[in-house]
Amino acid sequence: MTRINRDVIEEVRTSANIVDVVGSYVALRKRGKNYLGLCPFHSEKEPSFTVSNEKQIFHCFGCGASGSVFDFVMRTRNLTFAEAVSELANRFGIPLPQEKETAQAKKIREMAERLRQINGMAAEYFSRNLLRSSGEIARKYLQTRGIGEETIQDFQLGYAPKSWDGLKRFLTREKVDLKVAVQAGMLVPKSGGDSYDRFRNRLMFPIKDMRGRTVGFGGRALDDSMPKYLNSPETLIFHKGRTLYGLATAREACRRNNETLVVEGYFDLLALYNRSIHQVVAPLGTALTLHHVRMLSRLAPQAVLVFDGDDAGMQAALRSLEFFLREKLPVRFLPLPEGMDPDDFINKEGKEPFMQLLSEAKPLMEVFLEQSLSNYDGSVEGRLKVVRAVTPMLRLVDSPVAQEGYLRVLDRRLGVSEEALRAELALTSIRRPSAAASHKREQKPGLPEWEEGIIRILVNYPQWIPTLEENSALESFQNKDWAEVGRLLVKYYQEGGKLNLSGLLMDVQNEQIRNLISSWSLETSPWREEDAHARLREYFAGISSSRRRLQDDLKRLKEKIQAAERSRDEKLMAELLAELQAKKAALLAGEVNDEANLSKGEMV
Ligand code: GTP
Ligand code: MN
Repeated sequence: MTRINRDVIEEVRTSANIVDVVGSYVALRKRGKNYLGLCPFHSEKEPSFTVSNEKQIFHCFGCGASGSVFDFVMRTRNLTFAEAVSELANRFGIPLPQEKETAQAKKIREMAERLRQINGMAAEYFSRNLLRSSGEIARKYLQTRGIGEETIQDFQLGYAPKSWDGLKRFLTREKVDLKVAVQAGMLVPKSGGDSYDRFRNRLMFPIKDMRGRTVGFGGRALDDSMPKYLNSPETLIFHKGRTLYGLATAREACRRNNETLVVEGYFDLLALYNRSIHQVVAPLGTALTLHHVRMLSRLAPQAVLVFDGDDAGMQAALRSLEFFLREKLPVRFLPLPEGMDPDDFINKEGKEPFMQLLSEAKPLMEVFLEQSLSNYDGSVEGRLKVVRAVTPMLRLVDSPVAQEGYLRVLDRRLGVSEEALRAELALTSIRRPSAAASHKREQKPGLPEWEEGIIRILVNYPQWIPTLEENSALESFQNKDWAEVGRLLVKYYQEGGKLNLSGLLMDVQNEQIRNLISSWSLETSPWREEDAHARLREYFAGISSSRRRLQDDLKRLKEKIQAAERSRDEKLMAELLAELQAKKAALLAGEVNDEANLSKGEMV
């Protein structure tokens, strides 16, 4: 993807009115200054999705989703930022000049392109082979597994012939550099610089990215050679932990169905697709990663795991629960009968029973609680064991209503009161601060709250942004995220003479802070203008007075040092010099609010 320069982004942003863009996806009603609709990013019955024409941002007061017109397009269409910009540019007729990229980036992009090209050529070669007489074995196999012509074409299924150099000769004829074909994972290098076909006598599944470009392959053995499934090795463009099979074919269907099914195997996916269930993806024989779950959350607002109906399938599903909770992606679990995978089930029982099971799928969290409770033997230790097993997951449940529901279940089944469970929850949060908790916006103890206070006022009353500079307040900010927001406020205000909030939000890296800012900008200010102004002045006065006090301290210290020098009191001098060092460091670090430091200074 080419890089796009800032001016163009700005032009697109001003042309693509957010109310129009959102309005074409979500029914919006005017409510006061803003527009209101049902949030497309979580399911809700009462509209809390707010779009501001004036500020050109959206914010959902239900799930916290927020951002600019670009964020909206990225999330609803599963696009990258650059894709969203060019999509909107096309729609609003803005030409996209291309920015110069670095030599290094260009090399990587070109290499990635060549690898994709070779993968694409190989996919065509395999798919042609399926139709040749040598491909009959694979065609027969697909037939026995009930895979129809349309599915074969939609997935560009193919056959790698029983030969050490079929693909190699084809690529040579096509003038492909064989060294690059090795890098693409299609050929395996031999000592001496020669190479041979990686995939032989296998049914081939091209693995495609979101945009339908082939990035790698899976190949199923057609005889009893091992392994049963062979995948492309990791390459510049192929990472098993970051790729899902079926992305390209599932994308639209996931959006339509508001749901993505996840199965474990290639054939499971094909079997469902074959019966017009298109919203399916599969990991490539690996466990689901956090990254996979992130991809799922871009496909649709909920997911269903359709794993093998055995203990291993259930365990695999449960291992991924934590990732879904962290990504706040609702996930259900469809239990298949023991010993069946989705392919077996749908071929034996048919589509209707499958859809029936799908509609009955329970939240994975419930399955997890059931599973944990199933080992409960009624003893006190047993009870403690269950509680200890479930609390780390329960802590990640971010809906208080859902959390309470789960606590009630435990209360009923274990006879442990909700309060006791809550106490246990609080304990685990101290014992083991999880990654999710550290994600949260945490005020370090002692960190002044005025930084957040100042920013909140300025977002509500942008006309005072210049006072931030007049008071040199940013230099005293300790939290680098808030300091960054402060600098951006100044920059955007200076550029436009008013606050370009949607532009600013694009530059804020920290998602939590971004969400806070957009919610503040849409709130009716908690303070009337005079009160807010007074409060702002107080904040500034506080900063400058503590800075002044520190400077006064320094001056007094220096006088004392001079006196000690004159009286040749070396010990006192050493102490005072150390003190001076500490003070200077504090001033530099902006620790002007640290009362402990100041009072110690005053004792000298
Ligand atoms: P079929 O026998 O063709 O129906 O395959 P399956 O999908 O039912 O097989 P299984 O449940 O054994 O495997 C599920 C998925 O795990 C497969 O689709 C592969 O992605 C992966 N897998 C299975 N066996 C192997 C293997 O030997 N090597 C690798 N790399 N992956 C495998
Ligand atoms: Mn199977």
